[in-house]
Amino acid sequence: MMTEKCDVLILGAGAAGMMCTIRAGKRDRSVIILDHARAPGEKIRISGGGRCNFTNIHAGPKNYLSANPHFVKSALARYTPRDFIALVEKHRIAWHEKTLGQLFCDDSAKDIIRMLLAEMQAVNAKLRLETSVSTVTHDGDRFRVTTSGGVIEAKSLVVATGGKSIPKMGATGFAYQIAEQFGLKLIETRPGLVPLTLDPASLEKLSPLAGVAVPAEIFHGKTSFEEALLFTHRGLSGPSILQISSYWREGDTIRLKLEPARDILALLKQAKQTNGRQSAQTALSEILPKRLAQHVVEQTGITGNLADMSDKVLAKLAAQVQDWQIKPAGSEGYRTAEVTLGGVDTMALDSRSMAAKSVPGLYFIGECVDVTGWLGGYNFQWAWASGQAAGEFA
Ligand code: FDA
Repeated sequence: MMTEKCDVLILGAGAAGMMCTIRAGKRDRSVIILDHARAPGEKIRISGGGRCNFTNIHAGPKNYLSANPHFVKSALARYTPRDFIALVEKHRIAWHEKTLGQLFCDDSAKDIIRMLLAEMQAVNAKLRLETSVSTVTHDGDRFRVTTSGGVIEAKSLVVATGGKSIPKMGATGFAYQIAEQFGLKLIETRPGLVPLTLDPASLEKLSPLAGVAVPAEIFHGKTSFEEALLFTHRGLSGPSILQISSYWREGDTIRLKLEPARDILALLKQAKQTNGRQSAQTALSEILPKRLAQHVVEQTGITGNLADMSDKVLAKLAAQVQDWQIKPAGSEGYRTAEVTLGGVDTMALDSRSMAAKSVPGLYFIGECVDVTGWLGGYNFQWAWASGQAAGEFA
């Protein structure tokens, strides 16, 4: 079998792998990038509802979860959202800010894939699709990778095969296997940015609410996120729940504050004064979706007119809306999770270059590393920044 040689071999043609290819190629390194999928950047294609939330202008270390929160600082500071915006604008891709600093393509996520492919072509990188890897060895100087398309030898090997989320799209956890093979430690992996599920009894109680969306602040300990909440047939979803899911662990309780911008108790007191003959459900229906107002009142068992209710009773109603404790049973898992928490332990990597400290020439970038961003463009920014960092050294 013929052996092909290159300076840098990149495993995984996703966001991080393609970015790394471009940067290494610009340094005149010969680069081969391979992927077992039929097309590159499949997660980019489906991201952001097909419009790719490609970065967040507020991205900073505080927006990432990792056992070592300082690790992201170097790469994020050296490749910023402004740098990626400059690339997007060079390719005349129209974009807009949707909310909370989240930037999306005006037209299609495919524009981002086309942009990355054009940049890879400009540096003469070779892209090998539908290519799987069977073995990886290292003789101290070069990596020898046996693929379904032949053997490739490279001075540097960059692992960019992502995490375990959405196995249907080709996610494999392959990076963790390589890390273990070379003696790198792993931080336990779990699904992140994922809907939470409820036990059958709670689900039955909440089933009439399926499809109801409401502004909410969701708390897990001292962490909270204020965005929309969606009740579903399986449990809880919506951006605020996805965000908190990355912090939640089995057995933990979360607290829901619905309509966080409004003081429900004050509004109920006001409603009692202006029209005391209305029921609590009618008054709450002015503030909350009707089905939710009905559920809240049913849960408290409070009946009668507002005029007959003491402040204590009104406070009980308000607490049902703004201090609602829920113990999720689990999450929907990797099937629907947007990201994988945990991964290659950052203590084993150099934060400037993403290189494994103990294996010269081996790099890990993107989602396979124990760095996970919030929802809102932060994960792609990490993929771009870590890909760029490795591309500067590989
Ligand atoms: P990524 O998963 O993108 O790429 C890994 C590549 O490696 C894939 O092409 C895969 O086929 C390949 N591969 C895997 N195993 C292999 C093997 N054994 N051999 C060869 N190739 C292999 N983030 C964000 O910032 N904004 C957003 O809008 C969204 N939206 C979004 C929607 C959905 C539905 C999901 C699932 C995820 C998002 N994300 C997101 C998260 C984002 O997609 C994710 O963080 C990045 O794609 C991670 O980039 P990587 O390059 O590390 O992995």
